[in-house]
Amino acid sequence: MGFRRLSMDSAIRDPMSGLRKDGLIGWLYFLAWLSLVVSVSGIGANWGTQTSHPLKPEIVVRMLKDNGFQKVKLFDADDTTLSALEKSGIEVMVGIPNEMLNSLATNMKAAENWVSKNVSTHVSKGVNIKYVAVGNEPFLQTYNGSFLQTTFPALQNVQSALIKAGLSSQVKVTVPLNADVYQSSTGAPSNGDFRTDISDLMLAIVKFLNDNGGPFTVNIYPFISLYNDANFPVDYAFFDGTATPVNDGGTLYYNVFDANYDTLIWALQKNGYGNLPVIIGEIGWPTDGNINANPATAQRFNQGFMTHIMTKKGTPMRQDPIDAYLFSLIDEDEKSIQPGNFERHWGIFNYDGTVKYKLNLGATNSGTLVPAKGVNYLSKRWCVMKANVRLDDPQVGPSVTYACENADCTSLGYGTSCSKLDGRGNLSYAFNSYYQKNDQLDTACQFPHLSEITKTDPSDGTCKFGIMIDSGAYRNWIGGLVVLVVVYAGTFGVLNVL
Ligand SMILES: *[C@@H]1O[C@H](CO)[C@@H](O)[C@H](O)[C@H]1NC(C)=O
Ligand SMILES: *[C@@H]1O[C@H](CO)[C@@H](O)[C@H](O)[C@H]1NC(C)=O
Ligand SMILES: *[C@@H]1O[C@H](CO)[C@@H](O)[C@H](O)[C@H]1NC(C)=O
Repeated sequence: MGFRRLSMDSAIRDPMSGLRKDGLIGWLYFLAWLSLVVSVSGIGANWGTQTSHPLKPEIVVRMLKDNGFQKVKLFDADDTTLSALEKSGIEVMVGIPNEMLNSLATNMKAAENWVSKNVSTHVSKGVNIKYVAVGNEPFLQTYNGSFLQTTFPALQNVQSALIKAGLSSQVKVTVPLNADVYQSSTGAPSNGDFRTDISDLMLAIVKFLNDNGGPFTVNIYPFISLYNDANFPVDYAFFDGTATPVNDGGTLYYNVFDANYDTLIWALQKNGYGNLPVIIGEIGWPTDGNINANPATAQRFNQGFMTHIMTKKGTPMRQDPIDAYLFSLIDEDEKSIQPGNFERHWGIFNYDGTVKYKLNLGATNSGTLVPAKGVNYLSKRWCVMKANVRLDDPQVGPSVTYACENADCTSLGYGTSCSKLDGRGNLSYAFNSYYQKNDQLDTACQFPHLSEITKTDPSDGTCKFGIMIDSGAYRNWIGGLVVLVVVYAGTFGVLNVL
């Protein structure tokens, strides 16, 4: 405000209109600069690709732009994904999967090749790569320490390779970690410190990030707190301020996100790195697969979080704007459900880029999400259970097991979107999921005398029987078959000649 008044005054006082125009131009530059500064701190999205039928990368990039996402976090460095991000202006965090850490840790040349192929090439073509995420939650306790030896050396080698490639001032390294790398023995944020079993390693990594200008990246999941603990106070997972606050020496915490974030800030501060930049690598709420996961709870959490970060006031311990990537952009039907059935439903968009619920990201005029454009679908056909089949038919059990193992039944069961289906509905859902995942191949709806194809949508209320998007996989499959037949015939011909 003060800035504005000063420049207006000087323009008015100036007798020469030319100078006044200069003042105006200066203003426009200032506004342009301001919008750049603001855009850098905007909201990001995680773009995962563990899907059987991915949307075309160009469609996803358009979605990111239409919804005002300024940053995207990837889990690998896929060529077609990065090509679609060329000259989009979107800031990119590329990822290195945990499985690659060993080779990057033990082989400097591998790290150089990785940087050359997966960073330098794309930067030179106009992809705005800002971060390399080395590993993905490598110290998660369920990994049994598998990546404890390799993460830090890989981080060091990738950093050296970035320096060698002349990219270290524009591309920073980081390691996205789960919030389980720190803890508080009393639950109070001020008691926060790194997990004792990895404390030395964490301090070495934190020092390295600090020395090299890399941020600390952490994934925070209030949903998992609720999922893991039946006694967790539900309101404390959200941002409405209605929960009984946690009092930490006079500082009141009304939501678990702030308390968790500040536990990290305390841990950093206690170890001498109180100013290390922090990025929230993943935050979000799923919409299906669990009693606490539905569009209403996801909207309550995500809108609460967005409203919280749009105030730019930060948390009690760090009153800076919060830098975050929502998890996630789109549902992924091939994610492991080992953590729970909700795992395939984190998207703010469905698998096909349609909108799940109203969400104001503060970036579009409408205040609502903008769906994917230009998505092609397979035809309006579904695979369902035949009317005359009995539920106790001996083929039913093995068929449903087969369908669910090879497709996706995470919307069935207690507290899910399809929980109201009866036994027949359940079976139809499983058969249809398998049929759609296999691109509506006739052979994918031939569960022995149990199933048939229908043109009537079996969807019922919240329970959606989807139609798969046409990603060209069917044509590729036919193509593959033709190739196979030709190769086979060729081999046969050769054998005949011999
Ligand atoms: C580049 O990244 C891709 C995707 O993560 C990976 O498969 C490939 O091996 C990487 N290239 C090199 C040279 O490491
Ligand atoms: C970790 O160990 C447990 C118990 O020994 C085992 O069941 C699990 O498969 C292991 N996980 C990994 C990722 O190695
Ligand atoms: C439907 O399937 C789910 C998940 O497999 C199961 O929990 C539920 O009991 C089934 N419902 C009926 C009515 O069979």
